[in-house]
Amino acid sequence: MQSQMLMDARSYEQEAGKKITPEQRPAFHLVSRCGWMNDPNGFSYADGAYQMYYQYYPYASHWGPMHWGHAKSQDLLHWEYLPCALAPDMQYDKDGCFSGSAATLPDGRVLLMYTGEEKRGQAEFQQQCVAVGDGVDFEKYAGNPVIDRTKLPADASTHHFRDPKILLKKDFAGGDGYYMVAVNQTGDKNGQVLLFSSEDGFQWKFETVLIRGDGRFGQMWECPDFFSLDGKEVFLTSPQDMLPEGYEYHCGDGTLCMVGTLDHETMHFTEEHNQAIDYGIDFYAPQTVQTPDGRRVMIGWMQNWDACSIRDEDAPWAGQMSLPRELFMKDGRLCQRPLQEYEALLEERVSYENEVFAGGAMRELEGVSGRVLDLSLEISPVDEADLYRRFEIRFACDGKHYTALSYEPDEGILRIDRSFSGSRRAILHQQCCQVNGDRRNVQLRLVLDRYSVEVFVNGGDQVMTTAFYTDLSAEGIQMGAFGGAGARADVLACEYTG
Ligand code: FRU
Repeated sequence: MQSQMLMDARSYEQEAGKKITPEQRPAFHLVSRCGWMNDPNGFSYADGAYQMYYQYYPYASHWGPMHWGHAKSQDLLHWEYLPCALAPDMQYDKDGCFSGSAATLPDGRVLLMYTGEEKRGQAEFQQQCVAVGDGVDFEKYAGNPVIDRTKLPADASTHHFRDPKILLKKDFAGGDGYYMVAVNQTGDKNGQVLLFSSEDGFQWKFETVLIRGDGRFGQMWECPDFFSLDGKEVFLTSPQDMLPEGYEYHCGDGTLCMVGTLDHETMHFTEEHNQAIDYGIDFYAPQTVQTPDGRRVMIGWMQNWDACSIRDEDAPWAGQMSLPRELFMKDGRLCQRPLQEYEALLEERVSYENEVFAGGAMRELEGVSGRVLDLSLEISPVDEADLYRRFEIRFACDGKHYTALSYEPDEGILRIDRSFSGSRRAILHQQCCQVNGDRRNVQLRLVLDRYSVEVFVNGGDQVMTTAFYTDLSAEGIQMGAFGGAGARADVLACEYTG
């Protein structure tokens, strides 16, 4: 039996979703069917398709009592909306069905695990709940919440305890059944990851604190993921209230990846390396899935809590998912490249070799324009001894608006700036990263899709993601080099033919 609240959401989204034309949405990035979307949830492969659930408030373009939206796809680029999967219709989740994950049970049923948010007077409780179903309709388990505050270790907040990510035991220590990682806050205001285990997905037992923050990474962590990749264990999370550290971590809400090893006996994780997952303005709460052919693919929410007001109140949809990115390790770092299925849909439009830019003149290259474009550049100085100061690419340009990506080879600083994108808010519009390795010769690849840019630096060694909501009529792309003897670039522009 579906609740009235869920049925209302389902009929509302059907009508509201129809009013949004495909042209108003990105070409291949998933956005909410209508209303508001935040984190990816339950990203999985089931029933012969990729399943993506998401944090969802169908009724407005701002956050509200969280539902779970649902879409599926064969290739992670073409999405079909399915009916809203969960509504906050129980006492234990009355203030929201927060983020979580999915698993297919041995009998073929789909299990969703999520955080029930329940306010009681001034107090706020977050507790883990499950729902089972056929992949479209789900029934909340009568024994919910399956993990409440009584199962928490000492020094664990009962309020900040959320975002369960189910893992298969066979991917770690071996054996049947499940692990689950959830994030929590310690008494001294650090994020920590709690590890639970279960034989059947319904009865859960606390195992250990898998990773504990030590003051370096914000005050609370959100949306954990944990998996093996190329012989290492990788932990992903999105810390809140970060202090900046050089150009690696920005202040505010950010992303963190720890690479290390896991002792399967003690389930103790040893950190060997840490880095940001994405260095741009808008990337948060990513989840990964393993494809049937063994690739580890990540999708994040292409927005930042600190800058949500960039989207107008009357926008038909708010919140986009990132491009699906294949993860790989290189020299101990987590790297990302666009999904193979996306690459297969690209066709070369135009290319230029050794194009020289100098004197600060911004110019267009014939054939290089548009809001859906895959643009690669290899940039080097014309004269090492007379180094250019800045190379700049402006896109989504009309006479008045543009968003700019600029590179300063001296310090290796890559900057994204959407101040002139048409935003009317005094919010975060710029973000920087420092390019690793060779600063003189840099490769930049911009994946543009109407309202976003994802910049893959040096083959995916670093990625910078930013959303912008400039009117779609702004299609120009310009490039130029400032200072010194200028820069030369090989430029390749490819069309998305999907
Ligand atoms: C992260 C987050 C999660 C929470 C959800 C609520 O973006 O804050 O921790 O479950 O969003 O919508």
